[in-house]
Amino acid sequence: MRIGRFLLTAVITASAVTAMATPQADKGKMDQFIDNLMGKMTLQEKIGQLNLPVSGEIVTGQAKSSDVAGKIRKGQVGGLFNVKGVENIREVQKIAVEQSRLKIPLLFGMDVIHGYETVFPIPLALSCSWDMEAIKESARIAAKESSADGICWTFSPMVDICRDPRWGRMAEGGGEDPYLGSEISAAMVKGYQGDDLTDKNTIMACVKHFALYGAPEAGRDYNTVDMSHLSMFNNYFPPYKAAIDAGVGSVMTSFNVVDGIPATGNKWLMTDVLRDRWGFDGFVVTDYTAISEMIAHGMGDLQQVSAMSLSAGTDMDMVADGFLTTLEKSLKEGKVTMAEIDKACRRILEAKYKLGLFDDPYKYCDASRVKKDIFTAENRAVARKIATETFVLLKNENNLLPLQRKGKIALVGPLANTKANMPGTWSVAAASDKYNSLYESMKQSLAGKAEVLYAKGSNLMYDAQREAEATMFGREMRDSRSAQELLDEALNVASQADVIVAAVGESSEMSGESSSRTNLEMPDAQRDLLTALKKTGKPIVLVYFAGRSTVMTWEQENFPAILNVWFGGSEAADAICDVVFGDVSPSGKLTTTFPKNVGQIPLYYNHLNTGRPLEAGKWFSKFRSNYLDIDNDPLYPFGYGLSYTTFRYGDLQLSNNSMNEKGKITASVTVTNTGNYDADEIVQMYIRDMVGSVARPVKELKGFERIHLKKGESRTVSFDITAEQLKFYNSALNWVCEPGEFEVMVGGNSRDVQTKKFSLQ
Ligand code: BGC
Repeated sequence: MRIGRFLLTAVITASAVTAMATPQADKGKMDQFIDNLMGKMTLQEKIGQLNLPVSGEIVTGQAKSSDVAGKIRKGQVGGLFNVKGVENIREVQKIAVEQSRLKIPLLFGMDVIHGYETVFPIPLALSCSWDMEAIKESARIAAKESSADGICWTFSPMVDICRDPRWGRMAEGGGEDPYLGSEISAAMVKGYQGDDLTDKNTIMACVKHFALYGAPEAGRDYNTVDMSHLSMFNNYFPPYKAAIDAGVGSVMTSFNVVDGIPATGNKWLMTDVLRDRWGFDGFVVTDYTAISEMIAHGMGDLQQVSAMSLSAGTDMDMVADGFLTTLEKSLKEGKVTMAEIDKACRRILEAKYKLGLFDDPYKYCDASRVKKDIFTAENRAVARKIATETFVLLKNENNLLPLQRKGKIALVGPLANTKANMPGTWSVAAASDKYNSLYESMKQSLAGKAEVLYAKGSNLMYDAQREAEATMFGREMRDSRSAQELLDEALNVASQADVIVAAVGESSEMSGESSSRTNLEMPDAQRDLLTALKKTGKPIVLVYFAGRSTVMTWEQENFPAILNVWFGGSEAADAICDVVFGDVSPSGKLTTTFPKNVGQIPLYYNHLNTGRPLEAGKWFSKFRSNYLDIDNDPLYPFGYGLSYTTFRYGDLQLSNNSMNEKGKITASVTVTNTGNYDADEIVQMYIRDMVGSVARPVKELKGFERIHLKKGESRTVSFDITAEQLKFYNSALNWVCEPGEFEVMVGGNSRDVQTKKFSLQ
């Protein structure tokens, strides 16, 4: 028996102390167990627990680890990441629990970011569903599938607020809003961790990247961040804090500087804020080689930056080998203390204890689960449904969409027949042989009713080298035919069709890590393809793939229908057909602002007002805050998204026009589905604090509800406004609300709202 064999070989097991460790487990018992274990550990073994080398299929960053097995035997490894598969993990765990002196089990981590083999839409897309139950469910299924494959720890959720779509990692987060981002963060943590970490279907979450990684200058990945404390606390910290409040087990540091000091070595961040202010009691792991990268940041040599990181409150070193190779020396030289090493070691052992690994190190190595739990029809059906909720209909002139299943449809574009690109960035367990490309799904969806004619039409872009850089990790799609040949084929196909569906935009690796862009418009070759297709005079639907907000001014001017589908996961192709052919009405709403051009960036809805705001309705006014060459408005505002139906908002009602700090006001509006489709609408509530001790944003999201309305149906949606929603961090970084006038705004997006005033006494 698995456990039995372990019990025979282990020097010490948690079972000796407690039958089952749970998050609520008697802390006393856990402490006793860990005291006992640590009492047997040498300094080197303690430092070993702080070491997280990489091993496996995926290698990011600059370093590669070697001789991992030897290190495990010597007790020099606390966990591994990017090893997957029950048999692989069992083999490696066996080395730890049978061949190392103290037989301490390893943690097995992985970037399970938006699903495992059943891939859900990229996090940015998921956020556009505004559906917290669905998001939680996606994390629950991801946990179930990955734990069935041996994983017990995921490097997710990524909750970095991002106001700059040049940054490719916008794809991995929940958009620009701290309130929505916090809701998502908590939902994901609860989805992964469930109520009980010892349950074999749950895994430990790791909120990242703490902190501010989404605000690099110029949107260039890994770049400098420079931000006021006020903005950190009000705009960027809330989603990390929400994860802590939801009980996240671990936190990952970010690569960037925070107030001039790299996050990994930043004591204010990792101890004063994270632990002392927020009460975090899990462990902190660095991002990939973040410790050794502090050398390039100019913080000293490996020994110095390692000591600095440990003292700051970082517990585990991902890949840099800094803790492993220098802490002993630093201890001798008085640069770190034994108490600091003990604290970090204890936190990592606690995580293993909470996961139940001391009771059964092979807990996640049940081979029978692989077939039962991974990529099941059930999980795929959930992913398909969620994907339909994430697509955002940006334009639909004369109700071109949905298309009817009849006649001939030309499906054209470099993204129309690629499977590898469907799931999006960071989908490391995707099995592209098991799901459809859009072309395949469309043929199935139209079988017997309509004909699909396919042509690739163009490459992603003209420059082959640039395309190679934008299609890495096995996602290459270059066609060796000339641009003219590709175009001729497309025009031929288009000439025979009644309508053209163009599958265009970004490849999946044009967003994600190290995928920043300065030009967010349609890549050149695809723009030329679309221009030629437009000349045919046939109606064109753009099915637009992207991992960020892009610049779609030209598309908005030139094409009648645009469905932004992000990257929808393994079931994306079927989900796209569900929406394009009207089985489901689109309901996603943008969680990032779409600019008219790159020069407007950063452009976000919850901005401050300036002393010289542009007057409403104007696009330029001398000596006002504006541009000579473009107005200040976005192309599509935060919260925007169309439906196949129409919704009428009744008058906004307030239960009262004043309240005190203990009271509440209810804002209600009746929404009616006035169109021809049953559909979902996302009703949004924003608040503006008119006068504050610090300048306050022109509006901030403070509530939302996703409702389903049948044709003709009405529903009254109510939002409670309490003092909590009026609070913000003031100059002293206290969380306060201040008496005075407020505006409450309700509508279907951040721009088109009804406004009422109230006061806080
Ligand atoms: C990324 C992290 C990721 C880590 C491990 C890093 O390059 O920034 O988000 O979790 O690699 O794969």
